[in-house]
Amino acid sequence: MDLHIFLLLLTLFLVTTRFILKRRVTKNQPPGPTGLPIIGNLHQLGPKPHCALSTMAQTYGPIMSLRLGLVNVAVASSPAVAQEILQRNDQAFANRPIPESVAAQPNVGDTIAWAPADPRWRNRRRVCTTRIFTAQRLDLLQHLRHRKVQELVHHLRKQASKGKSVEIGELAFATMLNLISNTVFSEDLVDSEFKSAGEFKELVWRIMEDAGRINLSDYFPLLKPMDLQGVRRHVAVSYVRLHKIFDHLIRQRVAERQSTRAAKGDFLDVLLDQCEQGDPSDFTVETIKPLILDLFIAGSDTSGSTSEWAMAELLRNPKVMQKAREELIQVIGSSNVEVTESDIPKLPYIQAIVKETLRLHPPVPLLLPYVAGHDVEVSGYTIHKGNQVLINAWSIGRNPQFWDEPLLFQPERFLRSNIDFKGRDFEYLPFGGGRRICPGLPLANRMITLMLAVFLHSFEWELPEGVTSQTLDMSEHYGITLKKLSPLSAIPISV
Ligand code: HEM
Repeated sequence: MDLHIFLLLLTLFLVTTRFILKRRVTKNQPPGPTGLPIIGNLHQLGPKPHCALSTMAQTYGPIMSLRLGLVNVAVASSPAVAQEILQRNDQAFANRPIPESVAAQPNVGDTIAWAPADPRWRNRRRVCTTRIFTAQRLDLLQHLRHRKVQELVHHLRKQASKGKSVEIGELAFATMLNLISNTVFSEDLVDSEFKSAGEFKELVWRIMEDAGRINLSDYFPLLKPMDLQGVRRHVAVSYVRLHKIFDHLIRQRVAERQSTRAAKGDFLDVLLDQCEQGDPSDFTVETIKPLILDLFIAGSDTSGSTSEWAMAELLRNPKVMQKAREELIQVIGSSNVEVTESDIPKLPYIQAIVKETLRLHPPVPLLLPYVAGHDVEVSGYTIHKGNQVLINAWSIGRNPQFWDEPLLFQPERFLRSNIDFKGRDFEYLPFGGGRRICPGLPLANRMITLMLAVFLHSFEWELPEGVTSQTLDMSEHYGITLKKLSPLSAIPISV
């Protein structure tokens, strides 16, 4: 065949296929902004996609569609639409698209956060909710976390005696890593004196950074094999090293269990019990490593940055800080009595501060993405099979339709209402909802509340010279978690 005729036929074929596909894909799609050729709406997301999407929702409504490169995305921005997705159609949206920075890890199918919602995932979730994150298990291991938090107090007292300021976010991140590592392995993985960053912290941090980068391969799947920005290659090194560290800890524990038979009762013991008892296709020394890694990645930065935002809000709102300290003194007593996790139920105001912080500063503002397993009707529109779905929890938590004076930091609002973050109140979803709700919620709640209570009970806090509660910068930085753009520095004063 003549080359020109061949090219003409090929062009006709491509144009027709594109037309048919586009019709199928856009039929009854939710409204949304018109995009540019090729990149679609990618350029409209800007550095703070949660804010840009919130503004767009004012024009296009609580369910809208965008095209990010070659990927169609539906965005929900109201409690009613979130409920339709997380509750009424939870089965259709049970799976997640896997970003390339996540797919780079060994055995990604054995994670909890990214594995398809198949029976193996259900089994791992079941073990998490019935054996790992239970009140009994968390109570059993609380002495380890308590010890870590006391070390933090010791460190802060030293800084206080020198009148030095501390970086709250960095300390909180390192402490959260150690609280999780003690809960999982009964061991510290980060230097408890906070002197050196430590390899483990660096590795977890590097994974976070790589995962937070915009990667073209996620929006143009054809580019995946080329890994043009090198994200996959770069992040894979950190994953492999972390797997090696876990491998060493796991093998050491397996040997200990064989020789002494004395159980520590930590998460690793629970998982190794499963390896011994359960179906080997679900739990083996190999397949528990991605699960353990998930706990560190999902739990440390989220909990650390929540603690930093809480302290920033308290430094901006001295009356709230004062009220919180009064509650602590009344319930616990003077600062030489130690706060423990078992005190948390007696501290409603501190709990309300944590809730209010998570309303204004949800660390995962768009939750984790979902993918439609088949065509689904939501609010009268069709979300087509394969389309991705985001829920703008940040926007919902700041919407004046659902919250009075939403931009004010007022923990009292949670004392007056029964709204909780357990996924049943769709106007407040910092931990998500439905079948993929955060399984680490009970641990996160304990760790953040304990750390905050200890910060406030043992110290008074001041802002460094030149910064006042009115000038404290509260700008956000959007990455894998929503953090403070300028790290919070504050001076502890021992009381
Ligand atoms: C302030 C702290 C935390 C926040 C705000 C948070 C938030 C979230 C959110 C929004 C999701 C997605 C839920 C959804 O898709 O509906 C999630 C999933 C997850 N979180 Fe958390 N999280 C926190 C702490 C933790 C901790 C401490 C752990 C474990 C140690 C953890 C483990 C996980 C895991 C494994 C998933 C994936 C669940 C799945 O896909 O089945 N998180 N988290």
